[in-house]
Amino acid sequence: MHMCASTKVDWNVEIDSLLEELDHITALSITKIKNHKGKLYGFSEDKQKLLIKNSISPLPLHKALILLETIDDFKSSFENLYKTAFAKQVVLNCSNLKFNPEVSVSRIKKTDADVVGLWKEQVLEIVGDIKYYQKYKDVYSKVILGDSRQELSQIKDDSIDAVITSPPYPNEKDYTRATRLESVLLGFINTSEDLRAIKKTLLRSNSKGIYKDDDDLKWIKENQTVNQLAEEIERTRMALHKTSGFEKLYYKVVLQYFGGLAKHLNSLKPKLKNGAKLAYVVGDQCSYFRIPIRTGHILAEIANALGYKVLRIDLFRTRLATATKEKINEEVVILEYRK
Ligand SMILES: C[S@@+](CC[C@H](N)C(=O)[O-])C[C@H]1O[C@@H](n2cnc3c(N)ncnc32)[C@H](O)[C@@H]1O
Repeated sequence: MHMCASTKVDWNVEIDSLLEELDHITALSITKIKNHKGKLYGFSEDKQKLLIKNSISPLPLHKALILLETIDDFKSSFENLYKTAFAKQVVLNCSNLKFNPEVSVSRIKKTDADVVGLWKEQVLEIVGDIKYYQKYKDVYSKVILGDSRQELSQIKDDSIDAVITSPPYPNEKDYTRATRLESVLLGFINTSEDLRAIKKTLLRSNSKGIYKDDDDLKWIKENQTVNQLAEEIERTRMALHKTSGFEKLYYKVVLQYFGGLAKHLNSLKPKLKNGAKLAYVVGDQCSYFRIPIRTGHILAEIANALGYKVLRIDLFRTRLATATKEKINEEVVILEYRK
């Protein structure tokens, strides 16, 4: 995400040299693919274990790995732009993954794809964007890679006018699955330790990402709503005789989730200007034994206890819960911070 976002806000691209190089890389990759003999390129067993099964078929994967090798060999200053285009096309048009919005594997598999051609078209589309938006090239943007609960040291104190964000929802979703294929292809995740290290930087929102030394819950020790909610989830689990390891962690997810949000709001305070405005898009949930979690209202309560003023909670949209078919709200919690 950091690589793609940084690429998309960098307007200082020497387009003529990029286009020249693009033709070279394209021609070389096509030749390598055509002349290749023997076993297809593929993932090591370790890498395969990290992927959702059948994420990509052998031939498109082979072509993608050859293209990637060619890009790497060029050691180009446009490497990240090429890789951003690669990530998009490989996932959307060369793999078996579909997003609706959860990631899953299609029943019908894509056994071949014009990986290099699609990649080239995508690079050209980005070039078009860069040309079109030249008028904004002096608008400075910086993308920071970090955990918003703690790594705010790259942001100056008293510097933020506005925060607009959509944090995870407490919905049992593992956010790393949505970007797993490209993360593994591009070498951002090579081992299960790499994956765990990334998961640890994320706000806890599912029972597959809870760790022994997690301690965000200490930030909501005094919050009765969250603690009662966690108790209700655990009581319900026992009453229903649900005993799987994951189910036993549900109450903890809720404590760690709201604790993490509290920690984030607290770390943010010194960075905000007096009168800063904040907007948090969050969704109500009932993923844990159908017990309703009113995420927006609880977040507002937590923010209020930390000294933020809750200006209002806007209804953003209403969805039907998969299990109960009940309407659940997605809301925008609007806050203000005065020093
Ligand atoms: C509901 S999604 C929002 C997605 C975003 N609006 C978009 O369009 O890509 C929540 C996002 O928060 C990210 N996230 C989770 N924990 C985080 C943390 N501690 N710091 C920063 N981002 C985090 C997840 O990786 C996920 O991409």
